[in-house]
Amino acid sequence: MKIVVIGGTGLIGSKLVTTLSALGHEAVAAAPNTGVNTLTGEGMAEVLKGAKVVVDVSNSPSFEDAAVLDFFQTSTRNLLSYEAAAGVGHHVALSIVGSERLPQSGYLRAKVAQEKLIKEGPIPYTIVRATQFFEFTKRIADEATVGNSVCLPPVLFQPIAADDVASALCKVATSSPLNVTIEIAGPKAFRFDELIRQRLSALNDSREVVADPHARYFGTELSERSIVPGDTAQLGETRFEDWLSHSTSQAQPPTPQAATAVSINPAALKENEFRANELPPGSALLVGEAVVFNVGGSLCATQAKCTHRQGDLSPGKLDGSTVTCPLHGSQFNVCTGEVLRGPAQDPLKTYRVIVDGDIGRVEADAAAVAKAN
Ligand SMILES: NC(=O)c1ccc[n+]([C@@H]2O[C@H](COP(=O)([O-])OP(=O)(O)OC[C@H]3O[C@@H](n4cnc5c(N)ncnc54)[C@H](OP(=O)(O)O)[C@@H]3O)[C@@H](O)[C@H]2O)c1
Ligand code: FES
Repeated sequence: MKIVVIGGTGLIGSKLVTTLSALGHEAVAAAPNTGVNTLTGEGMAEVLKGAKVVVDVSNSPSFEDAAVLDFFQTSTRNLLSYEAAAGVGHHVALSIVGSERLPQSGYLRAKVAQEKLIKEGPIPYTIVRATQFFEFTKRIADEATVGNSVCLPPVLFQPIAADDVASALCKVATSSPLNVTIEIAGPKAFRFDELIRQRLSALNDSREVVADPHARYFGTELSERSIVPGDTAQLGETRFEDWLSHSTSQAQPPTPQAATAVSINPAALKENEFRANELPPGSALLVGEAVVFNVGGSLCATQAKCTHRQGDLSPGKLDGSTVTCPLHGSQFNVCTGEVLRGPAQDPLKTYRVIVDGDIGRVEADAAAVAKAN
């Protein structure tokens, strides 16, 4: 079945495209970078040809009140009208739990306006309201920062993993339209300040989290239950604690293993060094702030963070000399740094790799390729 994912290069969209494709569907990622713009109509008629379902997981580039309202209204009006012309039978949209309870937030007013257009529109629909994504918790802390303090109300908060959001959307998109709104959330409720404190501590972020009942969350005060779902919400499986330990271990350089009788003392390795035998062909290793890739026996190194939105490239899929960013699917040539596929626009920095016996070293200068042995 052809399913068009609007915002298919974003955090949720790229995961959803991967999940749907793995099930054998023709999942098409639509975004400005793939030639589809829901504000201008560019590429919409073409991409919707033959589509049975549209999932809208796009987001406004600006969160400013007027801009975000304009984005969700214009985009949704355009989508519904192009979908009607193309004979699309199911419009799925991702919204936010509690949107209607928080009218002081310009962003949430815009999500309510988006939902209203869908409910009044011509296409059978399912609206999926999710709680905040685990991946969004750092951004929440940044928005709530004043000086060195992060001020948040100690209300209930039940975030969900982006992977679980994508799984739930996958099920909805491959089922019949329900013409209702359903809610999804993480498996457990926390106190807002307590969870953000855990997240910052895992990031070794020294900011202090202060519980303040009147602190605003994206422009609005919250009450005890304003951002948690009702009793019938479907709950994701991923526990915050598990996600946190997994994401932290990915974000940090691997800790050296305890020395064995035959291995080189890891303490002897400098920050920019690695053991070449830990890097078989087709694999990647985080070395300081770089990633070293073994491309069929040749070693290439690039900066570790994607130039799009800082996604960690070390766990990215390596196919020949092409790495795919796990966050939104940008692709780069790891030996030249060149962008092969967006949304990233800027190339990666590349580094020279020198191999001396079993020890490899990343040099912070011009690009070069070394032989692994
Ligand atoms: N963050 C949360 O905690 C949370 C919770 C519940 C629901 N939601 C909702 O989840 C949705 C997806 O969020 P996300 O974090 O996955 O978003 P995201 O990573 O910021 O991705 C947004 C996507 O929208 C695309 N886009 C932007 N302008 C577009 C346009 N004019 N036409 C077509 N596509 C366009 C972007 O493409 P480019 O990259 O090319 O710009 C990108 O693919 C949003 O609607 C949000 O309201 C978020
Ligand atoms: S593609 Fe968005 S962070 Fe890499």
